[in-house]
Amino acid sequence: AGEYDLVAVANRLPVDFTVAADGSVDWSRSPGGLVTALEPMMKAADGAWIGWSGAPDLAHDPFDADGIRCVPVTLSAEEIALYYEGFANDTLWPLYHDVITAPAYHRQWWEAYRAVNQRFAEAAAAQVAPGGTVWVHDYQLQLVPAMVRELRPDVRIGFFNHIPFPGIEIFAQLPWRRQIVDGILGADVVGFQRTSDASNFVRAVRRLTDLTTRGQIVMIPGHAARPPRQVRAAAFPISIDSKHFDELARRPDVQQRAREIRQELGNPQTLLLGVDRLDYTKGIRHRVKAFGELLEDGRLTVPEATLVQVASPSRENVEAYQQLREEVELLVGRINGDYGHLGHPAVHYMHHSYPPDEMAALYLAADVMLVTALRDGMNLVAKEYVAARSDDRGVLVLSEFTGAADELAGAVMVNPHDIDGMKDRIVAAVEMDTREQRKRMRRLRRRVLEDDVAKWSQSFLSVLTSVPAPAGGTD
Ligand code: G6P
Repeated sequence: AGEYDLVAVANRLPVDFTVAADGSVDWSRSPGGLVTALEPMMKAADGAWIGWSGAPDLAHDPFDADGIRCVPVTLSAEEIALYYEGFANDTLWPLYHDVITAPAYHRQWWEAYRAVNQRFAEAAAAQVAPGGTVWVHDYQLQLVPAMVRELRPDVRIGFFNHIPFPGIEIFAQLPWRRQIVDGILGADVVGFQRTSDASNFVRAVRRLTDLTTRGQIVMIPGHAARPPRQVRAAAFPISIDSKHFDELARRPDVQQRAREIRQELGNPQTLLLGVDRLDYTKGIRHRVKAFGELLEDGRLTVPEATLVQVASPSRENVEAYQQLREEVELLVGRINGDYGHLGHPAVHYMHHSYPPDEMAALYLAADVMLVTALRDGMNLVAKEYVAARSDDRGVLVLSEFTGAADELAGAVMVNPHDIDGMKDRIVAAVEMDTREQRKRMRRLRRRVLEDDVAKWSQSFLSVLTSVPAPAGGTD
């Protein structure tokens, strides 16, 4: 047994590694949402974090990153190709996002997924203290809960799926559906973004196993030395560090930068903004197409209106992402060719990411925020935009296919597949008077500022620690 009372297991460590020319490795804290969520608990509870560095064959001893013990799991280039780019991001990702693109099923990818999950589970089992807690994150590691239970029946195990859990009609395609369900059922508490995701999971359990369910609780019978136990499935919608974003956007330098951005863009009447990882789930093509058609129809004109699209590079070795990039960039080029003027492109497209203070300035500068995902577990960009708008201005256009849509009723809701409908909603957002903007934004802000990410992790962990201590546990 190890010495850490709380062990987080996620595909990625909360740090970025840089390898120098001489092969020496350095790291810096990465500002990811998950680490923000877990940091207070990790520090209070003597926490360790198991994850991958993001680079091939990078072996590194465990180290302390600002009070969090980081335990790197090494992946070879082949494992990255089969487990991460293959099974996680070319099988599970499209399958769990409503098969927006066709998932690929390869037995070799599955084998690698299982082997890598086993390695994460072993690392977690080695670090967790007797009677401690292991919290496993996301679709890359769905087998880890059962694997940890096998190795360490004395600990409490939580699993949180950050992305949607599909309906059984779609999930049933997966050749390894039963193994995935059994893997997740190794946990005591299984968390999802939306209640519909939790019910989809329980339905999959009912369809694919002989286990009894009571509402959202799955009964696991005992055997030999193992007493019976229960698995609870529930929704825990994730959030952001709202207060931090609010404070960031109130900083004078950030507000000054927001004014500069508008000036640099030629002081447009309407600045529309999209911010996404360049991912086919985000509906970037649909959004840009709708904007292009509005220019074609003359309902919007350049330079009075302009669209800023930040598309941060993502999973660039996966073909579907390469293809999406081609399509988006072709579309942006066409629209700029047709409707741009010297010094005034219709679409400002950026294929990189920006630090949080620049993001906050962009949010403040934007009149209309376009979140038009075809499917999204939550979508934190929508919440960041709201948290940044302490001026109660700006309009959030939000896809009904995001987890955020369950919570953010003050947004202008769209179905991104319905281009005409989306165009009408975008025009309505552009024309919305300030009174209506303020009314909606206040409502949105109440929700986002109240339900922040600290509350999310507390509520998950309080449900997890309320389950009876497993046999062999210490309390
Ligand atoms: C989504 C997933 C995360 C993932 C992130 C970035 O938010 O839920 O698990 O870490 O995308 O993707 P990447 O493949 O770069 O880790």
